[in-house]
Amino acid sequence: MSEGLATVSYIGAMILFILSLGGLSHPETARRGNLYGMIGMAIAVLATVFGPRVSTAGIPWIIAAMVVGGSIGIYASRVVKMTQMPELVALMHSLVGLAAMLVGFATYIDPAASSHMTGAEKVIHEVEIYVGILIGAVTFSGSVIAFCKLSGKIGGSPLLLPARHWLNLAGLLVVLWFGREFLIADSVDAGMTALIVMTIIALLFGIHMVMAIGGADMPVVVSMLNSYSGWAAAATGFMLSNDLLIVTGALVGSSGAILSYIMCRAMNRHFISVIAGGFGTGGAPAPAAGAAQPAGEVLPILPAETAELLRDAKHVIIVPGYGMAVAQAQHTVFEITRLLREAGVDVRFGIHPVAGRMPGHMNVLLAEAKVPYDIVLEMDELNEDFPDTDVAMVIGANDIVNPAAQDDPSSPIAGMPVLEVWKAKTSIVMKRSMASGYAGVDNPLFYKDNNRMLFGDAKKMLDEVLVALKA
Ligand code: TAP
Repeated sequence: MSEGLATVSYIGAMILFILSLGGLSHPETARRGNLYGMIGMAIAVLATVFGPRVSTAGIPWIIAAMVVGGSIGIYASRVVKMTQMPELVALMHSLVGLAAMLVGFATYIDPAASSHMTGAEKVIHEVEIYVGILIGAVTFSGSVIAFCKLSGKIGGSPLLLPARHWLNLAGLLVVLWFGREFLIADSVDAGMTALIVMTIIALLFGIHMVMAIGGADMPVVVSMLNSYSGWAAAATGFMLSNDLLIVTGALVGSSGAILSYIMCRAMNRHFISVIAGGFGTGGAPAPAAGAAQPAGEVLPILPAETAELLRDAKHVIIVPGYGMAVAQAQHTVFEITRLLREAGVDVRFGIHPVAGRMPGHMNVLLAEAKVPYDIVLEMDELNEDFPDTDVAMVIGANDIVNPAAQDDPSSPIAGMPVLEVWKAKTSIVMKRSMASGYAGVDNPLFYKDNNRMLFGDAKKMLDEVLVALKA
């Protein structure tokens, strides 16, 4: 492929990536957005592999690597459960970080990459390598820890080392010092020592940063690592002088940063304190996930009684959470919504920004079940309507409807905005037990006089509610 054709292909791929991001901004256009992204990526890969910078001798190697990587990718996407998606995404981010690190080291030891460079050009090239490996290492180790936390391999409670901010600051100073050593190194060996020391510190910083995050604050970290992975890709693009990778990385990096900002706002946290790690814990260790001891009496309810309350209601708000995803109850939720709407009941959905385990988790499930978009509202759009609501139905949600976030300043989730379902005439919480949610804190909602607990698997219980509604 000629240089010109490769450049045109790259520009086409960039436009498709931008269209893809535009499409992903709304559920209705998200499928199309994904399609643009897939076509863009196919063009990008083909233009790179068959482009002027890959020798013919290298092509069989690249194809072999693509077959291996592609097979692993296809296998992972087929076996992964919808509830494991956030872990898979974290793992993918770690691979971007790892790639940036490896490309950085390879570029540094490859004599062909820099032998022709002198002066400012050489310095810029080395800064690219140093920064690229730094971002890659933080992304890699941080994402691996995020994967372990999301999959429950590591507990959700934050690890708060004494003087942790000073440790981070000391790490930063050492990284800056070795950056200088790296730039003035007179041999590859001396430069390599500086690179290795910096890499170890960056890896430790990534681990420390994510270990210090409390359970309920993980969403912010996931979107932040998403952004880091973009910057790692952009850094790789600089090292390889690949414009498409720079643009793509910058798109992912900046959209991830915007998402992190939105998440921070939703969680009522400050962006800087997230990057420093260990935020939102007020300096006190939060209880471990699942450690909360439930206190008080709860009032159970049966599916038939739930159906009766729903049938008699004028206004219903459904609040889905992680449990709906686990139970795969979204289709039954849709059927119930349809029946109620046909009977003249006003049904709406209230979506908390961090419901479930990944941004937009609930929107994806409801869209899959064909729930109309216009009745699926953000938390801010309907939180004031609960006092005029007859039934607030909470399906497998817990932390996002916990009044302790507003009432108890010592709670690990204090300050996080929540859906005020307890202000409805009746709230019904569907879950299997009294177990706590992701943040590991007890939920006073369960003990309120106007709250009823519908115990059982959400899908099974909703099936019974549906049968009762049809009867
Ligand atoms: P959670 O607070 O985790 O509560 C989910 C509840 O669903 C659990 O208490 C569980 O109780 C119940 N459940 C599980 N399986 C069920 C089933 N088959 N049927 C019925 N109920 C079931 O979820 P949430 O309210 O959606 O809040 C999300 C939490 O995850 C927040 O703390 C958030 O910070 C965190 N988080 C979010 C993200 C993103 S980006 N959204 C990422 C990481 C972490 P039982 O065991 O008693 O059934």
